[in-house]
Order: sequence, then structure tokens, then C-alpha cells
Amino acid sequence: MKSLSKPIYPVIWQDNKVLLIDQTVLPNQYEMVEISSYEDMAKAIKTMIVRGAPAIGVAAAYGMYLGARDIKTDQKDKFVEKIGIIAQELRQTRPTAVNLFWAISRMLKTAQETTGTVAEIQATLLKTAQKIQADDLQTCQEIGENGLAVLPTEPQKLTILTHCNAGALATAGYGTALGVIRSAWTAGRLERVYADETRPRLQGAKLTAWECVQEGIPVTVISDNMAAHCMKQGLIHGVVVGADRIAANGDAANKIGTYGLAVISQMHNVPFFVAAPLSTIDFALENGEQIPIEERHPSEIYKVGETRLCPDGVDYYNPAFDVTPANLIKAIITEKGAIKPDDILTLREVNN
Ligand code: MRU
Repeated sequence: MKSLSKPIYPVIWQDNKVLLIDQTVLPNQYEMVEISSYEDMAKAIKTMIVRGAPAIGVAAAYGMYLGARDIKTDQKDKFVEKIGIIAQELRQTRPTAVNLFWAISRMLKTAQETTGTVAEIQATLLKTAQKIQADDLQTCQEIGENGLAVLPTEPQKLTILTHCNAGALATAGYGTALGVIRSAWTAGRLERVYADETRPRLQGAKLTAWECVQEGIPVTVISDNMAAHCMKQGLIHGVVVGADRIAANGDAANKIGTYGLAVISQMHNVPFFVAAPLSTIDFALENGEQIPIEERHPSEIYKVGETRLCPDGVDYYNPAFDVTPANLIKAIITEKGAIKPDDILTLREVNN
């Protein structure tokens, strides 16, 4: 396994192109993929070279810029029309993480509202993508601090369970759920992390575990079906997960398996937290039932690597996300503080 001695940034703007850490080959290989066009960025999001809601948003923002940069016209109306088409293509990549749509809308609005020549608008679009990225990094650090303030006060050293990867790899850097865990580690409040392996894509086993190893954070990987047993044994003091989209009533979509984790957390009296930036809240949706759930290819279930697991003649269902109802969430940890899911509408003004 490769180890790094520098912060993890999954999306890097360098020499007029984007470099992405290829998250499909970690932890066995650490490779950067060069992205020079919006079409390549759309493919990278679809194939999960870059994944995790805020990281997808950052990547899409750069995708919008790359597309805008290559539009050959001096006329603003034609430029805006073409960038609208690029936005539409990027929106088709993944349906659940609202950060994708949020970042694309922000870039589109910038293109429409910026005055000046096309070249000036293009330059402003690059600055906007860079700002989205820089803001997300800052936001994650604030989420980390706010999360630390609401973690259980006993015992002094906590064992925290997380699901999927809501770390630096899933954001501009630092992470949301893993940001809270990082802050707890830095503050001397963390004993260890339990990482659900997170079938079928194994983001916990591959990515969260890799990030913890980079930072020297003790990590125990368990398969998803072991979490209830660990809670029953008193091994887990809190659960912190990320989110892909949070509805206006506090229902939160996250990686498949999160809902089950919330149910067993309640059963065992283990506090269950969701950590996410305001850009993950979709105030347009009344509740979680309205959140579109991505369904991915069945091969993610019937194959592990090149090995086929199931016999022919079997049907499959592969939803990539599920929705945890607000009443199972103790608090939603944002950059503006930790709030009860019921109070989420109070953040609407701040988000505008
Ligand atoms: O399918 P993925 O790997 O993009 O799913 C990622 C998750 O579910 C994360 O928990 C979520 O995006 C939050 S990332 C800070």
C-alpha cells in the first residue's frame, strides 16, 4: 500500500488541467488521472474516479470551466447557450449527490451574470471553481470543529464508527464525517475508528481505511453486518456519517447501509450524527422520499474483482444510497454549527 506524507486533495488544478486521484485503484495504487475536457470530467464522475458528494461538486465546477474554456465564440449569448448544454451533460453523471447540481448551477449563474467579454467570463469561471474548492476545504474544517463540540463527553477517548468514505477523498480535502473524526483525533478525544467496509463498492475498506493509515489514526475495518454486534458489545460510542442530499425535513440520503446503521444505533442508544456542508441540503425537497436514488450496475454485487459470486439466473437490485429519517439523527453537523434535523429550515437564509 502506498502512503503519502502530504494532505490528501482529490481534485487539483495544475498547469491548465485537472488532476484527480484515481479512487477506483486505491489503496493498491496511487495514481493521478489528467482531465482536460468536460467530457472526460463527466466520465470520471460517472465511473467514480472522483466520488463523494462535495468532491463531485468541485469536480463538476472544474468540468464546467473546462467546457467553457473550449467554447469558440466571442458572442456572450452563444457562449451561455453552449455552456447550458455542457451543464446538462454534467448533470446526467450521478443523480443523488445534490452538490453536483448546486455547483453546476452556481457556475451557470456566474456565466449568465458576469459582464464583459467571453474571455473575461471564462476567467471568472475558473476563479469560481477555485473558490468552490477553497470554500469546501474551509467548510470541512469548520464541520470538524463543530462536530467535536457535540460528540459524547464520556468516555474521554471515543471509538467512532463511520460508513462509506466521507473523508478528504470525498471533499476538497479534510472531509465531513472523517473531518469530525480527524478533529477528535487531533484533540486527543479519539481512541479509534471503526470503518464499515461498505459493500458493494467498499469505500470504507479501501478509502476510509487508507486515509486513516495516512494520518496514523487507528482503524478497525469490519464488514457491514458486524456493526450491530459491535454496538451490543459496547465497542462504539458514536456514529458519524456523511450525506449526499438532505431534505428540508432533515431526512438524509447517504451510502446504502447508512439507514440500517441508524436503526441499530437507536436500538443500542448510540448517538448517530450526519456531517455535511450546507451545499448538501436541498431545501426544494420536502422530505427524503423525494430524493432520487441512484441505481448502479448489478456487476457491483455479483462480482468481486474478476470473481463472479452468484450463479446465472439470479436477479439483482443495486441502489447506491438510502435515506435515514430525521428522527434517527441526533444532529446534523454543518459549518454553521450542529443542529437538530427539525431545525434545518433555519439554515435556509444562511445558504442563500
Ligand atoms: O457513491 P459515493 O462513493 O459517491 O458515495 C459517497 C457517500 O455516500 C458519502 O458518504 C457522501 O457523499 C458524503 S461525502 C463527504
